Amino acid sequence: MSAVLGLFDSGVGGLTVLRRVLERHHGVQCVYLGDTARVPYGNRTPEEIRVIAAEVVAWLRHSGVTTVVMACNTTNALARDVAEAQAGGPVIGLIGAAASMVKETRVGVLATPATVQSSAYRVSIEALRPGTDVIEQACPAFVPLIEAGDLLSDDLRRVAMAYVEPLLEASVESIVLGCTHYPLLEPLLRQLLPPSVRLIDPALAVARQLDDVLGPPSSALGQRMSLGCCRICVTADPSGFAARATPWLGERPDVELIHLQP
Ligand code: DGL
Repeated sequence: MSAVLGLFDSGVGGLTVLRRVLERHHGVQCVYLGDTARVPYGNRTPEEIRVIAAEVVAWLRHSGVTTVVMACNTTNALARDVAEAQAGGPVIGLIGAAASMVKETRVGVLATPATVQSSAYRVSIEALRPGTDVIEQACPAFVPLIEAGDLLSDDLRRVAMAYVEPLLEASVESIVLGCTHYPLLEPLLRQLLPPSVRLIDPALAVARQLDDVLGPPSSALGQRMSLGCCRICVTADPSGFAARATPWLGERPDVELIHLQP
């Protein structure tokens, strides 16, 4: 039986992971779920996040998914065990993958309030690289502004400056984009950061980790990816989602509206 990947997130953020996966593993069957009816996840309580993770992963499993990719750091930080219990197959997460990409001794992490409160990044990085200074910054305004669609708005620039300032004051050498929405802000963040600060996108390590499930990467790496093998679903606003997804995916996806509860 060939693998079917199930990726989920609260909204467009997980598409940053989907793209990295499709760039490395052309033609892999994927089901993507953006839970847009409940975005943002990262400003919710741990209890709510765990209930959401159970529902979403159960839906993916019933949709024929054989491997779950948690394309959402917030559920990865707070509900990985829930996902593992529901998945019926391998579960791939971002946080351990990100820790393996850290090489510097002073590292910043930008993430949702729920992820920062969980300390999952700090614990994971310190376990792999003892002695690393990990400076975490919660960014409650990022996801609602990103989902609003204007990635270079004055509001985003203003909050981005406030969020990166403490990391720069702490002289970080790299910054982990600890929420899958944040790679969409890379052009803006690059304008605000000195060139010496490396941005780390955990999705690249996740795509590599999937070699264990999918086999070696496609021979034509760098070739244009295609969405033909993907079913893309949301819990609200399919046409708005398709519009927001288009610049990142390079084509307008067909987006299906689904209901998680029967
Ligand atoms: N993109 C998700 C994450 O990586 C969820 C963000 C949110 O909905 O707050 O954390």
